[in-house]
Amino acid sequence: MCGIVAYVGHQDAYPILIEGLKRLEYRGYDSAGVALLNAQDELNVYKAKGKVSDLEASVVGKDISGHIGIAHTRWATHGEPNQTNAHPHLSNSGNMALIHNGIIENYMSLRKELEKRGFTFKSDTDTEVLINLIEDVQQSEHVDLFEAVRIALNHVVGAYAIAIVEKGHPDEIIAARKGSPMVIGIGQNEYFIASDATPIVGRTQKVVYIEDEQVVRIKLGEELFIRTIHDVEAIPYVQELEMNLDSIEKAGFEHFMMKEIYEQPRIVRDTMRGRLHPDTNSVSLGGIVNYEKQLLYADNIVFVACGTSWHASLVGSYLIEFLAKIRVKVEYASEFRYRHPVITPHDVVIAVSQSGETADTLAAIKLAKEYGAVVLGICNVIGSSISRATDAGIYTHAGPEIGVASTKAFTSQVTVMFMLALRLAELKGTLTPEYRAELIQELDSIPEKIQWTLDHSAHVKDIAAKYKDVRNMLYMGRLQNYPVALEGALKLKEISYIHAEGYPAAEMKHGPIALIDKDMPVVFIATNRNTYEKVLSNIQEVKSRNGKIIAVVSEKDVTARGMADHVIEIPDCISIFSPLLATIPLQIFAYHIAVMRGCNVDQPRNLAKSVTVE
Ligand code: G6P
Repeated sequence: MCGIVAYVGHQDAYPILIEGLKRLEYRGYDSAGVALLNAQDELNVYKAKGKVSDLEASVVGKDISGHIGIAHTRWATHGEPNQTNAHPHLSNSGNMALIHNGIIENYMSLRKELEKRGFTFKSDTDTEVLINLIEDVQQSEHVDLFEAVRIALNHVVGAYAIAIVEKGHPDEIIAARKGSPMVIGIGQNEYFIASDATPIVGRTQKVVYIEDEQVVRIKLGEELFIRTIHDVEAIPYVQELEMNLDSIEKAGFEHFMMKEIYEQPRIVRDTMRGRLHPDTNSVSLGGIVNYEKQLLYADNIVFVACGTSWHASLVGSYLIEFLAKIRVKVEYASEFRYRHPVITPHDVVIAVSQSGETADTLAAIKLAKEYGAVVLGICNVIGSSISRATDAGIYTHAGPEIGVASTKAFTSQVTVMFMLALRLAELKGTLTPEYRAELIQELDSIPEKIQWTLDHSAHVKDIAAKYKDVRNMLYMGRLQNYPVALEGALKLKEISYIHAEGYPAAEMKHGPIALIDKDMPVVFIATNRNTYEKVLSNIQEVKSRNGKIIAVVSEKDVTARGMADHVIEIPDCISIFSPLLATIPLQIFAYHIAVMRGCNVDQPRNLAKSVTVE
């Protein structure tokens, strides 16, 4: 949902801004722009429709000098993605330029007001309204830019992470945030500002995460100066950045998505490190240790999440109910926040989010707190808004996920779900020590089994080649593999634009079966031992209607492989663990189809990795 980068310091700003934008491109990529203040105090603004590379091509031969600048990569909300609507936006006087991630909800009324006061607008954006509102305040109140921003933001309804440069101030950037993320990197006589830490990695280890409703003066030679929009001083809290350069580069893979798929054995191991104890057959989750009682005696555990994180939560609900016998609900955060849910202080709400910035999930957290529930988080990004808004939580430790289609974040979330379910079961005494030991040993072996799955996945590309031109596809699974079917279908539609749906296999006869003919391939996840026979019947039903069958089966499978047109094997495992394995070939299948169709795998159209708007 838009990425912002800004720089002020002793180096040339342009290359730093462009590299930063490229690292943030996963947040939006329909247009990009940069504003640079040069040594002659000229404010040069360049914008281009399309990717950051289009912006680079468009500035050839132009003045890109300057040691201070702001830059933006956009995911359109107000106004179509074109050059005019791209950021940065200039104020009417041309004295200042602004970049903005978020949405100003009351921009129409503010725009009308400003028009009455003589301001004119070139674009359809809410952002151009904001910069002119700031200019109007500055001119009418005779205050400096910092004050003008602070006052103006009191009139704004919505979300923002903004950075502004002003002519005559070659050593100063004013920034502010509410709802959209912002981090400031503190270097040697230089500052970096960005939507997340990726543009800062490799440049400095010292960072400050800006809080909601804070305005910051970033001035060379001075400490960060922060006040809230209500004029209360805030002390910056400087932290060490926990991210390295390797984690945000492709490491020889053609796409981030494939790199991230192949990282999964290591990531799952990292997620379990120091938490799963195969020597004592126990689990410890330090982050939530003070909330275990609440979880154990909760009337309901309620997961709130969106997209892939919702699928991981659904796996979690099956696991916790099955193993720990605690009631679990799974809610789309976007529905939860508006449907007046019945939540009491006896419930525990768990927000699940890779980015930790999803606007609907943040709103759901706020609502759950209003109801008095304990709110925990399962997040990937350390220091993210959700990790800070929750009472406590569990980090997934998947490292930065750059590919827009989530892969390793999903498996790490599911790994956390296993550990949570096993820990609660341990505390509640719902499992015999022998069975618990068996499960913990199995979870410990999963990274090797994921590696095996990857090592035996070469033929998935051949299967993909056969189906790359289909228009529709169905994915079927039962129990814990039903969310895997949903996730497999989501991967395919996200990156290849083929219409795909996931279903619990037994639901097939209640509708989807009407779709089956020779042109409808169906992926079956046929690994669960206790529903195996039933899934076989579903496979038979598709076969007798000439549908094509791709079956994900266990290594030891005998029957399903005889019925399917194509077979993908995963290692044998205790059934409930198959989501961590069956997901892998479905990611690879979607990946190859998308590549063969010439789609942009890492940055699929219309999507963004971090959805910081409703
Ligand atoms: C977007 C992303 C998905 C992600 C969802 C929820 O739609 O493209 O990959 O699953 O947001 O994001 P979160 O960061 O909260 O997990």
